[in-house]
Amino acid sequence: MPDLHVAVLAAGQGKRMKSATPKVLHHVAGRPMIDYVLRAARQLGPASITVIVGHGGAHVQEALTAPDVAFAVQARQLGTAHALAQAEPLLAGRSGTLLLLSGDVPLLTSHTLGRLIEAHTSAGAASTMLTALVERPYGYGRIIRSRGRVARIVEERDASRAERAVREINGGVYAFDLGSLWDALGRIAPQNAQGEFYLTDVIAIHRRARLPVEAVIVDDPSELRGINSRSELADVSRIVRQHKNEELMAAGVTLIDPATTYIEDDVEVGPDTVIHPGVILEGRTRIGSACEIHAWSRIRGSVLGDRVTVLNCCVLDGARVDAAARVGPFAHLREESAVGADARVGNFVELKKTSLGPGAKAGHLAYLGDATIGAKVNVGAGTITCNYDGEAKHQTIIGNGAFIGSDTQLVAPVRIGEGAYVGSGATIREDVPPGALAVSAGRQRNIEGWAERRRNPPGKD
Ligand code: UD1
Ligand code: CA
Repeated sequence: MPDLHVAVLAAGQGKRMKSATPKVLHHVAGRPMIDYVLRAARQLGPASITVIVGHGGAHVQEALTAPDVAFAVQARQLGTAHALAQAEPLLAGRSGTLLLLSGDVPLLTSHTLGRLIEAHTSAGAASTMLTALVERPYGYGRIIRSRGRVARIVEERDASRAERAVREINGGVYAFDLGSLWDALGRIAPQNAQGEFYLTDVIAIHRRARLPVEAVIVDDPSELRGINSRSELADVSRIVRQHKNEELMAAGVTLIDPATTYIEDDVEVGPDTVIHPGVILEGRTRIGSACEIHAWSRIRGSVLGDRVTVLNCCVLDGARVDAAARVGPFAHLREESAVGADARVGNFVELKKTSLGPGAKAGHLAYLGDATIGAKVNVGAGTITCNYDGEAKHQTIIGNGAFIGSDTQLVAPVRIGEGAYVGSGATIREDVPPGALAVSAGRQRNIEGWAERRRNPPGKD
């Protein structure tokens, strides 16, 4: 929309958060809350987006590096109207609609914002706000109507008892006509309990100037939930997760217990996948169809093919697991690890920058780091790649079909040829040719009768 401009208020400290981190950077289901606001704004295709920063502004600017966002700085937090006034130099001379969003109201959908803009432009209003009818209006500005029309907005702290009983709240989200906005902002005085310049006063100013003011009541009041405290952060996060869970279930994913399943917004899951309680899926994780993720596993930034099984209590971070592979319980797949199709990674196995070929098995108790392991290799229990010499990391390469006996140390850099065998308990410091058997321990010696002699040493009667 060429005549639509967006401004986002994000300069406040968020005192009630009691945090060193600027409020709008606190995470809601894995992303900074302001990220949700910007995503919804972008879907409207505005001509410009201005974010007003102040408290912790450098952090906010850094976190939001996006070419389509301009920043205005509010050096002192003197109120929401003062904050918006800081954007005037960037928007001077523009006409059309300014959509004003709050960085701490992340649940708004672009659909609702579209309704706001539509109502605003079709009425030719000077200002239009989003409102909601809620059971517990405490803390929000109240919409005071006279003869059905919005007359003004009063903040909780400035409201009379009768006004506090009003259940229609101000969402802090407005469409303004850029033609009359800056003049109205200039008329706001800090005459209220907080001594701040309140943006909400624009409404009464427009009404007094006999300019048309409209309000759009949202269908779902939870869209206007603001975050001012840690408790509200948790509430809103839960709502975001609920939406995500609903969306996945509607698309054919089974969540055994949605209430204890934590799936971030950007995660994708294919149909017929079953997710057990206590599972955490984070970042850009993609899970195929007909997978089963058992309880208490955490998967972050990883890609799983179809029909993959992840048993209980695994941690996957930056891993790839191909079709029908089986991982866990208690496996740890770290960055750049890849498990081939039909492969098995069992309990207490750690992979780092290691690929396991199709059908390969590392069933128990192993550390496999900086290794390329071929198809159908069998890695015995207790195998360790000694990849670090105290200064640098080295590679281990194991050819297809090789068999690594239990309790083997592979001192990298080292190569095990295709189809080779390594006997149990070996310390492999030199390459093993294809098809060879490598043993490194000394020959076994049996000392006959030793136990009996220990109990009854000669000479003792
Ligand atoms: C505000 C509204 C209230 C509404 C509520 C909805 C005012 C006076 N009140 O109250 O009517 O019901 O939002 O969530 O506008 N900010 C700045 N600079 C400042 C002060 C605030 O940028 O000097 C930013 C904050 O970072 C925040 C937004 O403006 O993103 C709202 O400020 P906040 O203090 O949270 O206002 P509320 O008390 O929630
Ligand atoms: Ca707020």
